[in-house]
Amino acid sequence: MDGYQALSLKTAEAIAAQLKTKPESCLGLPTGRTPLGCYELLSKWSKEGKLDWSKARCFALDDYLDVQEVDSFAHYLQENLYQHTNLPAAQRFNPRFSDNYDQLIADCGGLDLTVIGIGSNGHIAFNEPGTPRNSWTNSIWLTESTRQANAAFFSYPHNIPNRAVTMGVATILASRHLILIANGEHKQDILTKALTGPRTNDVPASFLQEHGDLKVFTDFDYQHAISR
Ligand code: PGA
Repeated sequence: MDGYQALSLKTAEAIAAQLKTKPESCLGLPTGRTPLGCYELLSKWSKEGKLDWSKARCFALDDYLDVQEVDSFAHYLQENLYQHTNLPAAQRFNPRFSDNYDQLIADCGGLDLTVIGIGSNGHIAFNEPGTPRNSWTNSIWLTESTRQANAAFFSYPHNIPNRAVTMGVATILASRHLILIANGEHKQDILTKALTGPRTNDVPASFLQEHGDLKVFTDFDYQHAISR
């Protein structure tokens, strides 16, 4: 098993365990390249009848604004995960379609487990550098580096949106359990900066150091040692 397969398996197993322990769990779910292997496993286990999503509530971390539906994260989650599960459509949430996402999450009992990727610029969800610790769900302007990092997902470069809506740093930190996933050695430096450097708006992922139950799964050799 290579490093990426191991990262995907650990993440999928953690989500499966959460669903088994608490079937009505609220899950915060990422998009991007990193979680694809995890979603493939969860889809497979769901089709085999090993996972029951009937009571779960799933919350996309973020989504583009002014986006063609086919390029949206709602579509991504639908294609890569939801359509392979028995998660009822009414339990699939996306910040683009909610006036008050944080209230919605609170009304559902709060996030139990949230999985997040990390951007090469230190963003978590779409909380770009400069985002304060106390940010809740809000709409933002994407940095050019994030737009370019995601360009491969778009058939036409001029379709890459400039704006997005994202759970805030505070929304993510309020989740009872957190898993940070990082794929590719180019993420190593930013991961080290985030987990051992100063907590700063310049690196929104650095605020994860505050969380008491953060697991870090990578596909490269990495000793997770948060400086508290
Ligand atoms: P990636 O994106 O999984 O495509 O590397 C991670 C992120 O930007 O949060």
